[in-house]
Amino acid sequence: MSRRSQPPSPESSPRVAKRPRLEYAPLTSEDYKDGLMLAPMVRSGALPTRLFALKHGAKLVWGPETIDKAILHTTREVDPATGVVSYHGKSKAIFTTHPIEKPFLIYQIGSADPELAVQAAKMVQQDVSGFDLNCGCPKPFSTHAGMGAALLTNPDLLCSILTALREAMPPEITISAKIRLLPSQEDTLKLVERIVNTGISALTVHCRTRNMRMKEKAVITRLREIVEFVEKMGKGIAVIENGDCLGYDDSKRVREVTGAHSVMIATAAEANPTCFSPTPLKDLELTFVPSYIRLGKYLGNHWSSTKFCATQFQGRHENTSRNELKALREAIVRAKGYDDIEEHVAPWTGEQEFAEIVDAIERRGGQRAPPIALQPVALAPVPAPETTTKDNAYVPSDSAPAAQSVPAIGLGLDVPPPASAEAIAVQ
Ligand SMILES: Cc1cc2nc3c(=O)[nH]c(=O)nc-3n(C[C@H](O)[C@H](O)[C@H](O)COP(=O)(O)O)c2cc1C
Repeated sequence: MSRRSQPPSPESSPRVAKRPRLEYAPLTSEDYKDGLMLAPMVRSGALPTRLFALKHGAKLVWGPETIDKAILHTTREVDPATGVVSYHGKSKAIFTTHPIEKPFLIYQIGSADPELAVQAAKMVQQDVSGFDLNCGCPKPFSTHAGMGAALLTNPDLLCSILTALREAMPPEITISAKIRLLPSQEDTLKLVERIVNTGISALTVHCRTRNMRMKEKAVITRLREIVEFVEKMGKGIAVIENGDCLGYDDSKRVREVTGAHSVMIATAAEANPTCFSPTPLKDLELTFVPSYIRLGKYLGNHWSSTKFCATQFQGRHENTSRNELKALREAIVRAKGYDDIEEHVAPWTGEQEFAEIVDAIERRGGQRAPPIALQPVALAPVPAPETTTKDNAYVPSDSAPAAQSVPAIGLGLDVPPPASAEAIAVQ
């Protein structure tokens, strides 16, 4: 997120500022149920992506993991024209949000220290509805510092962070955790029991173990027992499935197998933020990418972030061919700033896109559920038992391939991963 070089004209002030504010009840465990959630995604979970996900039916949205220390030395700034709130670090915004998403926004913390986690939470608490602790990131930059998936084998520390957050935050702010499966189901259940007893409101389970790669199929069959176990604990906590869900239609399969209260989507939403809808957009280069870029510019989202996200978008093509898309694709890859892409996405302002998002959110009428709810599902028969591989990671007994990938042509820009703790925190 860049500081705006030119303040927008008064006419381009957001419509949201002129409307009466909707009142939302404080977030509870119930709000984490019966929904499709946008997963936390470093880089890909940028503000425009979260807003489009909400427009197209996500119930709640998780911000990208932000390391506790990264937010502590930031300064909060509000753009008076758009209302965008930025937490600026030394050279860039570490976290960016807009008040319109606050009732739905879960801020994800990366931490290995209860005190730092609480300090980080206090920094941003006025702009979010809940905090989630990342207990699943398997990357060395996280685990070497004791964060992410390293917490799975340090349950005392994991639970002390959750407890500290719960005690420090007011009741209207929820606390949740996102874990991966442990190799043994018994150990997973023991861990889940401890986590649930810290007073969290929701638990997301990424149905892969720490050692499993993303291209390996998520072991969603293990979740059923975990959901039943949590339900038996009687605290009303939501269990959210994560792993391999492709969108609204596919979430039925996931809920039938797992019995999970909700489903969280990452990769499919990175490719198409409208996948939460029963009618996701197709031909994204025509129907979505220009709007995304316009909104990015309107919100002052840094071009490198908008460009990165735009190059991840993929979707079904019905009315476009590869050649038709070439011009836009090449222009995005070449563009060094918004001005370089103007001829492909004009008219420019992005105000219309923002207004439509505000309208879509307001149509929820102060409720968190989107207008089209998930259909109730019947649980599928209990699945076959699982087996383990030699690296002790569970695999399903039917060695089925990973969930069907999104059949599409992406924009295909290879953008290197972030390198530093602060870069990781940047959206
Ligand atoms: C680009 C990208 C960034 C991610 N960043 C985070 C993150 O910040 N925090 C987190 O807990 N998980 C992160 N993940 C993992 C996802 O939230 C999710 O657990 C995983 O991708 C499995 O879900 P999926 O099968 O729907 O992709 C990221 C995944 C992707 C693809």
